[in-house]
This record gives sequence, C-alpha cells and structure tokens, in this order.
Amino acid sequence: MRDAGYEIAVFPGDGTGPEVLREGEKILAALGEGGAAPWHLTSYPGGGQYYLKTGKEWEPEGAVAVQKADAILVGAVGWPGATLPNGDLAGRALVLGLREGLDLFANVRPCRLYPGVRHRISGAYHEVWAPKNVDMVIVRENTEGLYTPARGRLRRAEETEVAIDTRVITRKGAERVIRYAFEIARRRPKGAPEDGHRRLTCVDKSNVLEGCRFFRETFDRVAVDYPEVEQDYAYVDAFTQWLVRNPEHYDVVVSTNMMGDIITDLAAVLQGGMGFAAGGNIGTDHGMFEPVHGSAPKYAGKNQVNPFATFLAVEQMLRWLGDRHQDTRLTSQADRLDRSIATVLANGTARTYDQGGTVTTSGAGDQLAHAIRAGPA
Ligand code: IPM
Ligand code: MN
Repeated sequence: MRDAGYEIAVFPGDGTGPEVLREGEKILAALGEGGAAPWHLTSYPGGGQYYLKTGKEWEPEGAVAVQKADAILVGAVGWPGATLPNGDLAGRALVLGLREGLDLFANVRPCRLYPGVRHRISGAYHEVWAPKNVDMVIVRENTEGLYTPARGRLRRAEETEVAIDTRVITRKGAERVIRYAFEIARRRPKGAPEDGHRRLTCVDKSNVLEGCRFFRETFDRVAVDYPEVEQDYAYVDAFTQWLVRNPEHYDVVVSTNMMGDIITDLAAVLQGGMGFAAGGNIGTDHGMFEPVHGSAPKYAGKNQVNPFATFLAVEQMLRWLGDRHQDTRLTSQADRLDRSIATVLANGTARTYDQGGTVTTSGAGDQLAHAIRAGPA
C-alpha cells in the first residue's frame, strides 16, 4: 500500500482515444469524490496525429513518465497517413513500443457478456449467447511470437523479392505468460460457466508448428505446479469454432502473440463488440491498460463511440494496482466500478450507436458517474 497514492500516466492518443479517455477520467473522478482517490493522473501527448503535427511520436517527458508511473492508461493510436519512415505505424511507441520497452509480457483480455448488452451479427442484434455463458479471460503472449522484430525485406534493384517475419518462441517468454495465466485461473472465483471447473486452455497449432509444440510442452511443465487447474488444449483453428459454439467451456485461455491477437477480436463479438473489449498489458514492474478498439477515425470528434471498453480498462487497472500493492482501497473501488457498470448496462439506457442506441460517449459516461454516486460506496 502506498499512502502517497499512485501515479497514473495517461496517453489519450489518436482519434476517438481522447474522447473515451475523457470519460474514463470522469469515472475516476466520480469514484474519488469525498477524498477516496489514492491516485493522480497526468496526461501526455503522443500518437500518429501528434507525429503528423510535430514529427515526434511522443515527448521525452512521456517516455520518462512511463518508467516511473504506477500504471499507464492509453486511449488509442493510429491515424490514416501517419506512418514512420520505415513503414511502421506512427504511434507504435505507445503500444507495441511499451510492450517491448517495459517488457509487458502478458496481454490480459477479459471477455464477459454483461446482461443488457446486445451482440450484433450480420447487421442485426441476436441473442446467440446467454450472458451467463460468456465469462472468460484470454491471456496473450505480448513480446515475441510473430511480433518479434526479426523481420525484413530482400530487395533487388529496389524491387521487393522476399518479405520475412520470423516467429520466435522462447522458453522464458512461454513460461512466464503460461504461469501468469495459471495464476489467473487458480484465483478466479467461479471457473468455467459450463461446469465451474477451473480450467486453462492452451490454444496453439502444435500439430504443425515447432514453436507451438514447444509452447505446449512448456504448458505441461508449468501445469505441474497447478493441480487445482484443469489442463485443456485446442488447436487454434478448431478453437475459433468452439469459442463461438460453446463459450461456456472456457475459463482462462492462453495463446501465443499473433494467435492471441486474432482470437481476442473474435471473442469481442461474444461480449457485445469491440466497444466492450479492454486489455491489460502486464509485466513484472509495469502495467498498461487500454480499450482495444483503436482510434476509429471515422467516428473521431463525434462523441459517438462506446466508452465502456475504457471503463472496463480502468476497472482492470484499479484491480491490478490493488492486488499488486495489497491495497484494498483500490480493489474495493474496482468492485464498486464493476457493480456500477453492470447496473448501467442492465438498465439498457446507455446504449451508444454500436448497441443500436443514440446515447453519446459523454452521455454514457454521465450515466455511469451517476450510478457510481448513487450506489453503495
Ligand atoms: C491489439 C492491436 C495491436 C496489436 C495493433 C494496434 C498493433 O491490434 O492490441 O490487439 O496487433 O497487438
Ligand atoms: Mn488486435
């Protein structure tokens, strides 16, 4: 526990990032009313739009702040035409750069369908999944795999002949993310919706790929330390259909970087869309939290996008900080935020356009702030 409070570095970033983070700050302020806020927020500029304006992805103060902060909150990065000279996304410093630079090895993406949230397929709303059947956490390796910066092009006379990305799976990288996932599975109160079993599913392509074979061997080796968690396996292709058909089977899922990237977007459909998808990028010494929907340039400045992914990212951040510092002030605020989110969503009164509603980004934030004030502290 830190009496002086926790420093949170905020990077609103591009497009709709600043709009959703403004609501996130509103919610943190509502939670902190009456002097109950052991946190302090400082915002820093950065991202693709900032790069277009200044030629810099971010400022040195931001780079120092991420090292010192207790937690980092990022809105979104990426903007059409904002590309670094080497072809990379301008703003990558704030997402991929932090994952690498702060060694944020576990990307933790909870996937839960709250009652009152609609899910849309093929343009219409359906009730394919019952809320009680969708409650899992997907843990994605976040520093290596296909994202390893061992890539390049072979050019002959200016023409590209070959482009190569190298997929790297290391013992350390696999072991620590798998262990982190087992720890989550061990602590989850309810297990899988299907049968209440604590279960960790290893998603890979070990019938073909050597790196995946090694990942699964590592899974089996780490599993010995977690007899209370059921071991489960799925090849990634089969997993995509089971996830959709039978989500109640899943409790905690662990996968490699690129596969985790893909399956978490699919999983977002089950939780009501990207507007509800939050992610924590977690390392030994640092944590960065983000809504994973991206900057949505089409909607930027319109006060239309769904801010709930940001609220869920804030909740994840408070819980992580609270657990890490054994500070119940933060875990109880995370619980309070979750209760308030569930209440507002169940009411069905805070639906933004993606939910078939007309509520604005700030309107949804106002409703949640109101529910926080009205509910038990
Ligand atoms: C994500 C995103 C990022 C990724 C992009 C923005 C680089 O899709 O966080 O899932 O590929 O990891
Ligand atoms: Mn992604």
